[in-house]
Amino acid sequence: MSQTALIERAEKVFVGGSNGEFRLPPEANLVVTHGDGAMIYDASGREYVDFLLGSGPMILGHGHPEVVTAVTRQVARGTTFMALNEPAIRLAERVVDASPCGEKVRLVITGSESIQFALRAARAFTGRDRCLRFEGGWHGVSDSALHGARTLDPGDYPDTLPDGGGIPRNWSADMLAAPFNDVGRATEIVERHHGELAAIVIEPLQRCILPRPGFFEAMRALCDRHGIVLIFDEIVTGFRMAWGGAQERYGVTADLAAYGKTISGGYPLAAMCGRSDVMDVMNGWRPADDPKRVIASGTFNGYPVGAVAGLATLDVLERPGTYKRLFAMGDRVTREITAMGERLSVPLLVGGEGPVLQVLFTSEKEIVDYGSMFRADKQKAYVFGVEMIKRGLFVSPYEKIYLSLVHTDGHVDRLLETAEEVLRDVIAKMD
Ligand SMILES: Cc1ncc(COP(=O)(O)O)c(C=O)c1O
Repeated sequence: MSQTALIERAEKVFVGGSNGEFRLPPEANLVVTHGDGAMIYDASGREYVDFLLGSGPMILGHGHPEVVTAVTRQVARGTTFMALNEPAIRLAERVVDASPCGEKVRLVITGSESIQFALRAARAFTGRDRCLRFEGGWHGVSDSALHGARTLDPGDYPDTLPDGGGIPRNWSADMLAAPFNDVGRATEIVERHHGELAAIVIEPLQRCILPRPGFFEAMRALCDRHGIVLIFDEIVTGFRMAWGGAQERYGVTADLAAYGKTISGGYPLAAMCGRSDVMDVMNGWRPADDPKRVIASGTFNGYPVGAVAGLATLDVLERPGTYKRLFAMGDRVTREITAMGERLSVPLLVGGEGPVLQVLFTSEKEIVDYGSMFRADKQKAYVFGVEMIKRGLFVSPYEKIYLSLVHTDGHVDRLLETAEEVLRDVIAKMD
């Protein structure tokens, strides 16, 4: 069936023709037939170098032989049991081993669930209801996490609003927000509300914004001073920025951490882990009437197919040279796109670092918080992404570029050559 016919069918059955927020305009829309290593293919027979990586999970590329072997073997042995199973135990052990805060683990299915359960655990453990997050960070789609993910009127900190329809407005009272990297603002809010605060939740590489030196240390100290639970959302950064994730890379240990994407090997699986005393609120042996008892259950929790895929992925990531290679690639992309911007007089910044990057069209010298990121030209970023896709480079027109272990220097050459063409022929002419 032709790609055009498939897109028409998708438009009939999916609202807006897509399955979520990721959607492409007609001139770049496509239906993926399959992926192989660093490449994906569409129903018209076109190939693309994949720099979206399924929004991050495919850090070993598509159909990695070790993942395929592990999954195929597991599928024949049973796909879900509810009960304890060996792959789940082995994966939990690896998380404990790698995560600086990992003492106990709960395996779940989506990143959104892992953050939701982490917030719930912090609330139950402290007996407090409110949490502090940083404006513009993304913590998934639970009703709590969808307060303050979008920009606020700067004067209104720490108040948040629901980020979309259908989210109870009165829940806003329990999610406060501060600007990322602003120690002063966050300290002032915590000092004012500490008796009510259960958690500070941080996306350590907030979208593509790096933490300023001392920011995480200050949040750690505030949590220690006031008995607040520090939650790191490592769903993007876990096992990607370093074996020990953002906690290792930026040198601060959280109380709870959430994992997803990388740890899943491309299958539905996520995890939360952390201090035994906090995690113990999820202990299923607690009496049902214990007010601290947190329900964090799910039919597919401990999903063995996802667990073997995750284990196979971690086996590959653990080999020497992984992070050196990912960061060398990232440094090259950052350096060369920055130089292109200067050469072509297109004001831009490359945010992020290592295998997580984002091209922002802005004249600002540094992106430090959501306000400065929000001021970047979103229309140019969108056109840049769409034009890249039209030229066979699959990137998100909304978000990050992800680098993987199967991207070769040749793939990066193509990314850079195409970026230069798009910047020169399209973006430079937009003003
Ligand atoms: C930092 C972060 N947290 C949470 C999530 C939610 O994970 P999921 O989409 O698996 O629910 C995402 C997803 O993009 C994410 O990037």
